[in-house]
Amino acid sequence: MTKQHRITLLPGDGIGPEIIAVAVEVLDAIASKHDLKFTFTEALIGGAAIDETGEPLPEETLTACRHSDAVLLAAIGGYKWDNLPRQQRPETGLLAMRAGLGLFANLRPATVLPQLIDASSLKPEVVEGVDIMVVRELTGGIYFGQPKGIFETETGEQRGVNTMAYSVSEIDRIAKVGFETAQKRSGKLCSVDKANVLDVSQLWRDRLTIMAQDYPDVELSHLYVDNAAMQLVRAPKQFDTIVTGNLFGDILSDAAAMLTGSIGMLPSASLGSAGTPGVYEPVHGSAPDIAGQDKANPLAQVLSAAMMLRYGLNEPDAAREIELAVHQVLDRGYRTGDIMSPGMKAVGCKEMGEVLLKLID
Ligand code: IPM
Ligand code: MG
Repeated sequence: MTKQHRITLLPGDGIGPEIIAVAVEVLDAIASKHDLKFTFTEALIGGAAIDETGEPLPEETLTACRHSDAVLLAAIGGYKWDNLPRQQRPETGLLAMRAGLGLFANLRPATVLPQLIDASSLKPEVVEGVDIMVVRELTGGIYFGQPKGIFETETGEQRGVNTMAYSVSEIDRIAKVGFETAQKRSGKLCSVDKANVLDVSQLWRDRLTIMAQDYPDVELSHLYVDNAAMQLVRAPKQFDTIVTGNLFGDILSDAAAMLTGSIGMLPSASLGSAGTPGVYEPVHGSAPDIAGQDKANPLAQVLSAAMMLRYGLNEPDAAREIELAVHQVLDRGYRTGDIMSPGMKAVGCKEMGEVLLKLID
């Protein structure tokens, strides 16, 4: 029997519409081979939503997401909306979606593919074989803590305030994702914090240490975030799974991403509690400088669709087939500008999609 999956598509801004179009074609091709049926509903987010409705995350979009089995997001943001008040910025829509769907766990894999090893700015021997999973807490910490805002003090001076706070339940639920992710990988979990300075981090470290007793098969270590940043570029192969808070995870996942050579290759998954739809999106942004020019690399978006099949729709075979096709296009030397190296075949976004489709058929 044909299995049906309802997917909300959020193309967003910049290169978003171009790359998501490739992912949709790939999903359709996969569907016919695996006896699946995807029903796509497109909705507005980010700058596109601001232009159309005045707000970055219209209620309609959140409702569409809630009524689907998974959400495939491209990217949001652009110069045009950078100077709006915070409530009307594209990024605020993204944060509201994370909060609204309860997506507390963000999985960001950083895998160095042998075909792209020369695209890394680090020496090949340092990055060869790197395979890291960053588990980032996504709905708490300094991104959401209260009080926040720009206030006026008694002397009339302005003072900007954000609050980094985590409750035990927030720490425990992301720690659980960290331990379980490590269990499925090599069994090594590194928790990153700033417990030498921050109380919120001390609680984080204490909880991780207590929870480790329930996971005797996982080897837990702790690093301060400054040291972790250094170790990531010094000797990244020491890491397998990293679990950390929202802000540290934001920063470290970009650093981990760049080990692989191009942020244009990396997918991510944002997950909530069981039964709620996850959001799958590339780690990179909307790249407004190359939007509409057929220059974007669609592979992170395509790999995000594969992650969606694996983590959100329980279709691991279909996911594997997409990942295989991506490896094959690279093996055959096709490269978009961001991963181009001498001797390879330069292609645009559309052509990269066409080559993928041929390989899947
Ligand atoms: C990310 C981005 C977002 C974040 C921005 C766009 C709000 O940098 O997904 O990593 O800081 O979380
Ligand atoms: Mg970021």
